[in-house]
Amino acid sequence: MSEQEIVIRTQNLHRHFRMGTEIVRALNGVDLTVYRGEFFGVMGASGSGKSTLLYLLGGLDRPTAGSIWVNGREITRLPENELAMYRRHEVGFVYQMFHLIPTMTALQNVEFPMIIARVRPKERRRRARELLTMMGLGNRLRHKPIELSGGQRQRVAIARALANNPTLILADEPTGNLDSRSGREVVALLRDLTRQGRTVVIVSHDPEVIAQTDRFIRLHDGEIIEEGRP
Ligand SMILES: Nc1ncnc2c1ncn2[C@@H]1O[C@H](COP(=O)(O)OP(=O)(O)O)[C@@H](O)[C@H]1O
Ligand SMILES: [Mg+2]
Repeated sequence: MSEQEIVIRTQNLHRHFRMGTEIVRALNGVDLTVYRGEFFGVMGASGSGKSTLLYLLGGLDRPTAGSIWVNGREITRLPENELAMYRRHEVGFVYQMFHLIPTMTALQNVEFPMIIARVRPKERRRRARELLTMMGLGNRLRHKPIELSGGQRQRVAIARALANNPTLILADEPTGNLDSRSGREVVALLRDLTRQGRTVVIVSHDPEVIAQTDRFIRLHDGEIIEEGRP
């Protein structure tokens, strides 16, 4: 596994929103390189553009200007159906608010992306069970989100993000709703994913979380104002 293999590259990335007569420059010329296997942090105050950057990297949104390459492919100008395939197979998202489906069990939540990807029932149940067990939830398969703690919910969400075996995990303040102990567990699990050669981008304004990363950037008003290693 080469540390120098580039997974994400952005060039002069802009995302502007028109609000009435005003233009909000949520991202204002971001040049970024992330390597395979990195645990990469994104810091910055509220409103600095962190989520906007993650949405663009994950193909949930398109830039106003600039380019993004992921695994050597330019995703910014892909047709909608190819972008959907990119989201489904190459990216896993983890959110601050978990975004689990409340009526589904842990197992069903993890199976869900595999249903969309047309994985056969037997195989997707096997894999969901395996992923949940890997997250320490082998004894919580039939629990619904409301019957789980915050830390357990986020671990279900990580298992779900891994369902279709993505190379890239994008986590937007995944510890924002967790107590500090559960938060540390979640960060350790995300960090462990990089050992299998996955790349993890984690947004956080918690210095303790950023201290665990290999490298980080700090955004301010849509621009990178700092790049470093903790
Ligand atoms: N869909 C949108 N429409 C208008 N403005 C937006 C939209 N999304 C984000 N913004 C604005 O862009 C800026 C960056 O937002 P965001 O990326 O969510 O910041 P962060 O995640 O760092 O808190 C903010 O000023 C926000 O209000
Ligand atoms: Mg945000």
